[in-house]
Amino acid sequence: MNSRFIESSLSRQDVAFEVPLRPQSLDDFVGQDQVRERLEVLIGAAKQRKEALGHCLFSGPPGLGKTTLANILSKAMGTNLVIVSAPVIEKAGDLAGVLTNLKEGDVLFIDEIHRLNRAIEEYLYPAMEDFKLDLLIDQGPNARSVQVKLPRFTLVGATTRMGMLTGPLRSRFAFTCRLDYYAPHILEQIIQRTSRILNFQLDGAAAREVAKRSRGTPRIANNLLRWVRDYAQMRAGSHVTKDVVIQALEMLSIDEQGLDEMDKKILEVIIDHYQGGPVGINTIAVAVGEEGSTLEEVYEPYLILQGFLKRTPRGREATPMAYRHLNKGF
Ligand SMILES: Nc1ncnc2c1ncn2[C@@H]1O[C@H](COP(=O)(O)OP(=O)(O)OP(=O)(O)O)[C@@H](O)[C@H]1O
Ligand SMILES: [Mg+2]
Repeated sequence: MNSRFIESSLSRQDVAFEVPLRPQSLDDFVGQDQVRERLEVLIGAAKQRKEALGHCLFSGPPGLGKTTLANILSKAMGTNLVIVSAPVIEKAGDLAGVLTNLKEGDVLFIDEIHRLNRAIEEYLYPAMEDFKLDLLIDQGPNARSVQVKLPRFTLVGATTRMGMLTGPLRSRFAFTCRLDYYAPHILEQIIQRTSRILNFQLDGAAAREVAKRSRGTPRIANNLLRWVRDYAQMRAGSHVTKDVVIQALEMLSIDEQGLDEMDKKILEVIIDHYQGGPVGINTIAVAVGEEGSTLEEVYEPYLILQGFLKRTPRGREATPMAYRHLNKGF
């Protein structure tokens, strides 16, 4: 298989950091109890029947565990995990190459599946439903298609934008689940787990403080913890207290609600330049120098959840809470 398809959005250094922290089984996966229970049933039943798992779709904001779950599924089933990012599948032939290299029971993980182009998406339907693929051979007058039988594989799709998936694709997944932001006490458990793996001690109040500032997101919790560890090593010594955490995270301009500089910039643009809104997402994007889609996928969901931002038909509005938080007076 072409190595171009085996893609990861992480840099090499991040991979080295993330790999040991990534839960390898459902028992290690903290929180999301409902999702975990459902997956236990799904995996248990498929194993008993000695069948491949049904296709699964995971949605939710970045860093909540979609890739981790795909990894856990393939481990639990004892099969290979093949990871592909949707934007790199440019032609039907690319997809055919991936599919025909799968083995019985393999998990094919398509990340950012909402970015699959429509023609390729349609090509995927018979593969998902009947494990068949129509391959086009030759071009022009000699063109003909042959049908290839595929092994029974499991497609696991991940998306940060469920709304951008077409109905027909969504309906072909046997199991769909949405991951939500983690509650602070669950993040605290994740932070404790990470600190054990990193062999880095911090007290309960310190772990709670990191959790509070992690935007409900395990990846952010782990990254902040990594920073706190560096900070403590250089500035605080081995006893890591809540105060040390606060100093470390203030140095990154991450406030007590977990908002970072970009979050604050977004709210400030709306308040200072557009009288609190409503203002269109693309206007905000230009003003803060970020892609509109990134604002929608990464920043906005948490700001909305925390009550700092409102999404209206006419655009985004800052709430009174945002004014208070930024000391703007409402
Ligand atoms: N439930 C969990 N328990 C413990 N750690 C977790 C959990 N979920 C995620 N993590 C940690 O957070 C990191 C990021 O998770 P993951 O890569 O699975 O997110 P993702 O949803 O695929 O994000 P993206 O949309 O950016 O691809 C993992 O490496 C893992 O260490
Ligand atoms: Mg991922």
